[in-house]
Amino acid sequence: MRTIGVSGEGFRPYEVLVGAGLIASAGQLIRPLARGGRAAVVADETVAGLYGSAIVQALADAGLRVSLVTVPPGEGSKSFAELERLCDRLLGLGLDRKDLIVAVGGGVIGDLAGFAAAIYMRGIDVVQIPTSLLAQVDSSVGGKTAIDTPRGKNLIGAFWQPRLVLADLDVLATLPERELKAGWAEVVKYGLLGDADFFARLEADGIGGDLAHAVARSVEMKAEIVAEDPRETGRRALLNLGHTFAHALEAEAGFDGSLLHGEAVAIGMAQAFRLSARLGLCPEADARRAEAALAAAGLPTTMAEVKGAPFAAERLIDHMARDKKAEAGQLVLVLARGIGDAFVARGVDRAAVRDFLIAEGARP
Ligand code: NAD
Ligand code: GLY
Repeated sequence: MRTIGVSGEGFRPYEVLVGAGLIASAGQLIRPLARGGRAAVVADETVAGLYGSAIVQALADAGLRVSLVTVPPGEGSKSFAELERLCDRLLGLGLDRKDLIVAVGGGVIGDLAGFAAAIYMRGIDVVQIPTSLLAQVDSSVGGKTAIDTPRGKNLIGAFWQPRLVLADLDVLATLPERELKAGWAEVVKYGLLGDADFFARLEADGIGGDLAHAVARSVEMKAEIVAEDPRETGRRALLNLGHTFAHALEAEAGFDGSLLHGEAVAIGMAQAFRLSARLGLCPEADARRAEAALAAAGLPTTMAEVKGAPFAAERLIDHMARDKKAEAGQLVLVLARGIGDAFVARGVDRAAVRDFLIAEGARP
């Protein structure tokens, strides 16, 4: 098992445990954090069906009073309606400030239950038990929580750090292959943004390689970046490599499950590298390497692979300009000088991005 500490200004340090069989030990690990003796396990119906009873049992065996609260699976649950329903269920259970929320699932549950924890009675503690690869390497660590609105993804939320994160590698065995690949995009992201050696190892090992190392190194990198910039005023934005392109594609594809977040990020990262090469910032060979590593994992790397393509360049740019990183309508993109060397580029020329998107197959 690997233990990775997360610390930073403005929050209590916590640990991320990465290893096999952690769910079986969840009771002993979590019990000391539930001062009120009660915990609400929040999971989507799929994950609850697979791991709900094992986790409830582990917590109950450690002496906690436990309730399981389920929500429908899917991005649609990151909504005001589901947040309200969840808070109402927690109030109905009589959960108070000394109690604990245990978020068990992918990024959807981590974000929804994490946000509920941030606002429930002005904030109660949350433990994250991420069950998707994406959630283990990214969303469960660092305290970003949010829901979506019809105007966009993750627009309403809070920074609310967990008390503990348990990344049990065994649960990845039941993750659908497409979800595993989508999570792999976020693993590759860490290599591309800041660790060329890690990227080279991922290139060599591939998705079927050393998953324990891949998760642990990803968490370690996320912890380093969050420690430096907990509220994303600077370097943390590097974690959004590929995300501005990705959010535009997700918005165009319509959040109907045809394009997973990680798939959109894979295309977005390939585009960020191709744009960097086109602008003369990054060697062409590095852009080709980035693209090849993603394609080798079975991930899409071009917009043509998205349902509904080709998209209008102007619409894509409008989405990109509405991104949370955008400043006064100016495009802010994470670009790269090479593998492992990403940087935040402010005020990127819209016309250059438009020409690039058209070269990528967008409609003029
Ligand atoms: P998800 O939570 O919808 O999980 C994907 C699917 O896999 C779901 O159907 C779920 O039921 C299923 N699943 C999860 N674990 C399983 C397991 N072990 N076995 C079988 N099935 C399992 O999606 P996701 O990809 O994990 O997360 C995407 C969300 O994360 C998006 O909403 C995104 O905005 C958010 N996100 C947040 C952050 C952050 O920092 N907070 C970072 C990245 C992404
Ligand atoms: N997923 C990006 C971040 O946590 O900052």
